Amino acid sequence: MRLVILGLPGSGKGTQGIRISEDFGIPQISTGDILRQAVKEGTELGRKAGRYMEQGQLVPDDLMVELVVQRLAKEDCRAGFILDGFPRTIHQAETLDALLKEKDMVLDAVLKLQVSDEAVIRRLSHRRLCSRCGADYNLLTKPPKEEGICDHCSGGLYQREDDREETIAQRLQVYHRQTKPLEAYYRDSGALSIFDAEKDVEEVSANIKGVLKSLSTTQLAQGPTSSG
Ligand code: AP5
Repeated sequence: MRLVILGLPGSGKGTQGIRISEDFGIPQISTGDILRQAVKEGTELGRKAGRYMEQGQLVPDDLMVELVVQRLAKEDCRAGFILDGFPRTIHQAETLDALLKEKDMVLDAVLKLQVSDEAVIRRLSHRRLCSRCGADYNLLTKPPKEEGICDHCSGGLYQREDDREETIAQRLQVYHRQTKPLEAYYRDSGALSIFDAEKDVEEVSANIKGVLKSLSTTQLAQGPTSSG
C-alpha cells in the first residue's frame, strides 16, 4: 500500500503514521524526521535545510525530491510506504507521480487530517519531546509525571525549535499558501480521504484503519496489480 498523509503542522501525521506502519507493516517516512536527523549530524543536507526549518519555511524542492527519491529506492519500500510530510508543494506531488509512474505504480490513498489552526497552535505550543528516547508529551493533554523529565527514560524534555508561537504561525501560513493546493490536486485524482483529526487519537486511528482495511480488501479481491 502506498500512502501519503497530508495535513497542517501538528494535525497528527506522525502520530497516525506510526500506527499505520505498525498495523500494515510498511515504513513510515517522515521527511521532517529525516531532516532533523541531518541537522543533528551536521551533514551537508542538514546545514542547507536547517535555516529554512528554523524559520518555519519549506526546504527547497530540489533537496526534498532528491531525499525522497533515495529513500523510496530502499528495499523496505518495495511492499509500500507511508509518506508523512511529503509532498508539500504541487511540484513535489507531480515529481512523486512521475516517479511512481516510471515504476508502473500509483498512490493508493492520500489521507488528509483535518484540524483547525487554533487546535494546531494549542497542540504545538504545548508539545515537549524527550531528548533521549523521543517520547512525545503535551503539557495540556499528556504531561509528564515530573516536570521536564521523561516518564520512560528520565531524559530531559525540550521544545522543538519550530514549535515557538511565532514559528508555528509561520508554518501555518506556509501550509495555507504552498501545501493546501495539494488537497484539490488529490481530490481531482480521486485519492483523497478526509478525517476529522480533532477527535481523540484512538478514534482518528480507528477511522483510518477502517478505510485502509477496506482498501486492502478490495486490492486482494482484484488480485495482484501494480498499485498493490
Ligand atoms: P515536519 O516534521 O513534517 O513538521 P510538520 O508538518 O510541521 O508536522 P509536525 O511534526 O509538527 O506535526 P504532525 O502533523 O506530524 O503531528 P504529530 O503527530 O507530531 O516538518 C518540519 C519542517 O521540515 C518543515 O517546517 C519544513 O521546514 C521541513 N520539511 C519537511 N518536509 C518537507 C517537504 N516535503 N518540503 C519542504 N520542507 C519540508 O502531533 C503533534 C502534537 O499533537 C503531538 O504532541 C501529539 O501528541 C499531538 N496530537 C496528535 N494527534 C492528536 C489528537 N488527535 N488529539 C490531541 N493531540 C494530538
